[in-house]
Amino acid sequence: MYRVLVADSISDKGLRALEEHPQFLIDKIPQIDPEELKNIINQYDVLIIRSRITVTEELLENTQRLRLIARAGVGVDNIDVAAATRKGIIVVNSPGANTIAAAEHTFAMMLALARKIPQAYSSMQVNRWERSKFQGVELFDKTIGIIGMGKIGIEVAKRAKAFQMTVLGYDPFLTEDRAKNLGIKKATLDEIAFHSDFITIHTPLTKETNSLIDRSYLEKVKRGVRIINCARGGIVNEEALLEGLESGIVAGAALDVFVQEPPGPELKHPNLIVTPHLGASTKEAQEKVAKEISQEVIDILEYDSIRNA
Ligand code: MLT
Repeated sequence: MYRVLVADSISDKGLRALEEHPQFLIDKIPQIDPEELKNIINQYDVLIIRSRITVTEELLENTQRLRLIARAGVGVDNIDVAAATRKGIIVVNSPGANTIAAAEHTFAMMLALARKIPQAYSSMQVNRWERSKFQGVELFDKTIGIIGMGKIGIEVAKRAKAFQMTVLGYDPFLTEDRAKNLGIKKATLDEIAFHSDFITIHTPLTKETNSLIDRSYLEKVKRGVRIINCARGGIVNEEALLEGLESGIVAGAALDVFVQEPPGPELKHPNLIVTPHLGASTKEAQEKVAKEISQEVIDILEYDSIRNA
């Protein structure tokens, strides 16, 4: 019998296959705090998480039993994968299930940013009627720079094309042919800075992408650019972004992810709109993610078969 700890809010419907499997016994403690997790982790063979929990080397020192960490989502940056591997613990994720949710949230943020919807809503909440204050801009005929042309970047590109935007895509793995097939232009990071009215990020957080959009990058952007980050906190340097917003170089920004989640009170600006890491938070995506993870856990522990390690 394998014992599984679900240490985050994961869709019950998606976990059904695992719950109904006779070889798995599941405990759900979605709000577990790090101290409690440290105390009980050694009772489990499998740990299932989203982004709330950080799996550190120190946490893993408390277990001899854990065999598998399943991340219900794309990013594994909240897991010390090297430390897990050293202990022989397999780490798996669910790379495709969130794609549409993340692309749609990016568009929701981009439209909200362009039309100042959160600011207008807040103003009406205090009984104001400020029509001229909230004049926006259109997406039509604008240039969008997409940094990271993986699954999510591609879905964002398709939607941008439907809005009749010119799409520039940067990705070290993007070929000219692929760009042509998608109807977009392959671009360098600098070209994206020089020409984009909107810049959206869709890369993982790595050593290379940490602070990719920093002070020096913002010196190159088109004045009045709008920046969206629904990928990972830290890819856009928050201090540099606030400076850019203050100087007007950046006309607006939309962040769904933060260096520290939740972020501190200093991360505020009238032209900055924020959501609390909701990119993957749709009913459909959460069911798909949990279903995919459940099947992976069963396949690995029951049949020794790995898909997304
Ligand atoms: C992801 O990496 O897929 C998301 O950040 C998952 C989440 O919302 O926790």
